[in-house]
Amino acid sequence: MCPETIPSTRRTLNNAPILDAVSGTTPTRTPVWFMRQAGRSLPEYLKLREGISMLDSCFQPELLAEITLQPVRRHDVDAAILFSDIVVPLRAAGVEVEIVPGRGPVLAHPIRTRADVDALPILDHDVPEVAAGIAIILEELNDQQALIGFAGAPFTLASYLVEGGPSKNHERTKAMMHGDPATWHALMERLVPTVVNFLEVQIDAGIDAMQLFDSWAGFLTARDYERYVLPHSTEIFSRIERHRIPRIHFGVGTGELLGSMSRAGSEVMGVDWRVPLDTAARRISAASGPRVLQGNLDPAMLFAGTAALSEEIARIKAEADAAIAAGDARGHIFNLGHGVLPNTNAEDITEAVRIIHS
Ligand code: CP3
Repeated sequence: MCPETIPSTRRTLNNAPILDAVSGTTPTRTPVWFMRQAGRSLPEYLKLREGISMLDSCFQPELLAEITLQPVRRHDVDAAILFSDIVVPLRAAGVEVEIVPGRGPVLAHPIRTRADVDALPILDHDVPEVAAGIAIILEELNDQQALIGFAGAPFTLASYLVEGGPSKNHERTKAMMHGDPATWHALMERLVPTVVNFLEVQIDAGIDAMQLFDSWAGFLTARDYERYVLPHSTEIFSRIERHRIPRIHFGVGTGELLGSMSRAGSEVMGVDWRVPLDTAARRISAASGPRVLQGNLDPAMLFAGTAALSEEIARIKAEADAAIAAGDARGHIFNLGHGVLPNTNAEDITEAVRIIHS
């Protein structure tokens, strides 16, 4: 769907701290955004969402734009994360999926056999509602504030498809992977074009950076990750490379996988809160060379009060600085080590951003 040339309609950011951190220029302040900054931690979000299902809200341009912008206005973060969900491209392709409150994405028909895989719809068209929402967002952001788009990585999407919903142990997914590797790889190959197309919809609409969420990759051994997942995530990053926007790669509980995941080819590696940033940087650098790090405050620290929070933020910044000084990292974007927890106080998020910037 995308022409071979890179669109020149991209807006120009002016020393946006996030883009400076990625390009190796010293940013004017430590850039910060929080995964799940849009959503349940904000009363103004809960008000807007009254009576509208999560997935329906992702297809309403004015609404998704407003929800995306709420945390930027309130917290002074350096980026907006597009309000969407990892199952939005599946829904756009025609897959019957709902997000059940308190549970997560649930599929009407789980994917269990080769025939199911072959019948899985592929997203091969525009998602005009998302593109229109992005246009509204870009009108309001200033030239220091980046808009980050995203997609779920094929493994994490496959887990929802195969299990039929959120899973504690991902046993059916692993059973397919090991018991029927041909079907597994066919499923991953069928998801790649949907992910790439959904990212290109967002890129054509003007996002400034992208993140691939492989949230559940941490359930895999490095050996299985490399055999069953890495080739497909690598394919996605390599197909996005020509657009020349920063690419971020993130998963939860991925301490043992950071080296393997870094080989998929992103400029930025998200680090979950369980691994100190300097340790993470050494693992990444040894596997595939230094990258920009993103992370990695424990989301629970937003409940701990200003003194404890300041101490943790200082520790994380010091670890990032040490990694950069040692040549193991190229820069640092501050973030949580996973998403904002639903019960977090909005004021505590604003306070964290203030401390990070100071
Ligand atoms: O602020 C942001 O980060 C932007 C929005 C965003 C959402 N989902 C909105 C959302 C993003 C980036 C996602 C990605 C996403 N969705 C991931 C990857 C990130 C991660 O957390 O690891 C995953 C695994 C999903 C699947 C999913 N969607 C889950 C597990 C849930 C939670 C279900 C629940 O109610 O506990 C959702 C629903 C969802 N996605 C909500 C939001 C704001 C909550 C729904 C609501 O507010 O009613």
